Amino acid sequence: MTTDPVYVTDALIAEDIDAYLAQHQQKSLLRFITCGSVDDGKSTLIGRLLYDSKMIFEDQLAALEADSKRVGSQGQEIDFALLVDGLAAEREQGITIDVAYRFFTTEKRKFIVADTPGHEQYTRNMVTGASTADLAVILIDARKGVLTQTRRHSFLAHLIGIKHIVLAVNKMDLVGYDKTVFERILLSYRSFASEIGITNFTAIPISGFKGDNITALSDNMPWFKGPALIEHLENVEIAAAADEAKPFRLPVQWVNRPNLDFRGFSGQIASGAVKPGDAVRILPSGKTTTIDRIVTLDGDLEEAVAGQSVTLTLSDEVDCSRGDVVAAADAPPEAADQFEATLVWMADEAMIAGRAYWLKLATQSVSATIQQPKYEINVNTLDHLAAKTLELNGIGVVELSTDKPIVFEAYADNRTLGGFILIDKLTNATVAAGMLHFSLRRAQNVHWQASDVDRDMRANLKNQRPALLWFTGLSGSGKSTIANLVEKKLHRMNRHSFLLDGDNVRHGLNRDLGFTEADRIENIRRVGEVAKLMTDAGLIVITAFISPFRAEREMVRAMLPEGEFIEIFIDTPLEEAERRDVKGLYKKARAGQLKNFTGIDSPYEAPETPEIRIDTTVMSPEEAADLIIDRLLG
Ligand code: ADX
Repeated sequence: MTTDPVYVTDALIAEDIDAYLAQHQQKSLLRFITCGSVDDGKSTLIGRLLYDSKMIFEDQLAALEADSKRVGSQGQEIDFALLVDGLAAEREQGITIDVAYRFFTTEKRKFIVADTPGHEQYTRNMVTGASTADLAVILIDARKGVLTQTRRHSFLAHLIGIKHIVLAVNKMDLVGYDKTVFERILLSYRSFASEIGITNFTAIPISGFKGDNITALSDNMPWFKGPALIEHLENVEIAAAADEAKPFRLPVQWVNRPNLDFRGFSGQIASGAVKPGDAVRILPSGKTTTIDRIVTLDGDLEEAVAGQSVTLTLSDEVDCSRGDVVAAADAPPEAADQFEATLVWMADEAMIAGRAYWLKLATQSVSATIQQPKYEINVNTLDHLAAKTLELNGIGVVELSTDKPIVFEAYADNRTLGGFILIDKLTNATVAAGMLHFSLRRAQNVHWQASDVDRDMRANLKNQRPALLWFTGLSGSGKSTIANLVEKKLHRMNRHSFLLDGDNVRHGLNRDLGFTEADRIENIRRVGEVAKLMTDAGLIVITAFISPFRAEREMVRAMLPEGEFIEIFIDTPLEEAERRDVKGLYKKARAGQLKNFTGIDSPYEAPETPEIRIDTTVMSPEEAADLIIDRLLG
């Protein structure tokens, strides 16, 4: 049976705040989301849950009051209809796109409900709200049955790995509490659910408005044997509890070293349990050792479990730093650098295949590039569509590679070690949420072959230090001319060099590439890789490519040892380059005969802090070349 809701009074809090808090701390916390639109009665249902539990936080009230000006304050009798009005009003106003988190409690459990917007254009917001949820309430209007949005919400909830799905068939009062209506909806939902892999769900006929089957079973539907909604919410297993049964993993957040005698590894346990004496393996290095102590602010523990934040000390002085994972020695997770994953795109700017983004997974942070999607998923029909990119709210399956191995598990097995976000390197905005499926075998079977002659030995033989002189600037700015002069001068000085020029490389290695954003990125990626190999060979490499995007220039910079990448901005204003128009291309572009021309209808992102800036309106190519050589060798 359902326990009665707690009636929290101001008096209790005022009298003994410690007792009040302690009482709450012991209760487990269930996070859930509600999916549906205002029309389905979502605000009414949330209002009902808050109302029946009589537990509304002050700040929620303040917000609601500001909206309706009529709702009472905590502990006072609140008018249900007014409360719902307030919630609905809040939703309809500016806050509609954000996820609203609301808190309530019963005697048995605490709840945080994320009220996520239901429209397709807010898919990313729903994903945000769902990412920490244990349960999803999918609302259906009994009069309408399973709709496109029901499918979309179910698919997303399943995708995010929510284990418990509640199908709340609402507004039963408006269909005369008819059992056959409920059963018909149940049948149609079941066949859809099994198609997308939802094997288990709990269907409950309710009326949020009248309160049927919310806290207790309703006399209006004697044919329904339960559970009532709150009873179910109070009893489902919380994900953290299920995680305790899995193998031990702790992603290291920081290394705690207050003095030379103490070295602890701090973080939140992602899964499993740990005791002093347990054998563990540090990943990705694979070194094994045993747990010495489990330290917390309140003293040492005999055992710690999933969800707890602890500091571990180890019996051996093994290497272990932020981003590493301490795992059960006999059941360690994998480390890999190429994956298949599902991505939910969350930025206004579309995904760019080939561009490097920061990937954050647990406490690990690496650079990752995504390939063109294998397919995009239509969230309404669940069809797989061919796609070159993912736009805002787009969901697709992609392959991605990282610049170093990450320790991971499939998202389906472990949300902490399988879920990640992508961050734009220049704006620092979160652009996507992702879920790893598996690592690609091709990554596992290709190993780095160490050679005995290294880059220093090769450069020493040539009596020089390798460098990459990276020219960037508009078409016709003078890159090739100056680069060519620089190489001639270096050659005269007995320096071993190689000039990679855009127009030439596009005749061979990159002849399959055009001038779309994605192709330009791939152009620069390949040139970067080739230039890197050539610096490894000990050469002074000179490249002359428009290389219009900051992100890719920075990517190449990051591929080389510190100081080896020298960015040279050939700063010729567009008007000047267009006036010179050496190849007649600007004329063509202006006439509309040449698409995606840099500076005309394709962007050029000028360097902000290049190592060298050449203003060709005040400097001759000869002077420019001398200046560059001075900088390089001086
Ligand atoms: S980049 O943008 O990918 O770095 P890259 O330097 O290789 O360009 O090639 C630029 C050269 O290609 C230009 O100098 C010009 O001769 C030629 N070109 C042909 N079409 C275009 C275009 N749409 N935009 C820019 N350059 C073009």
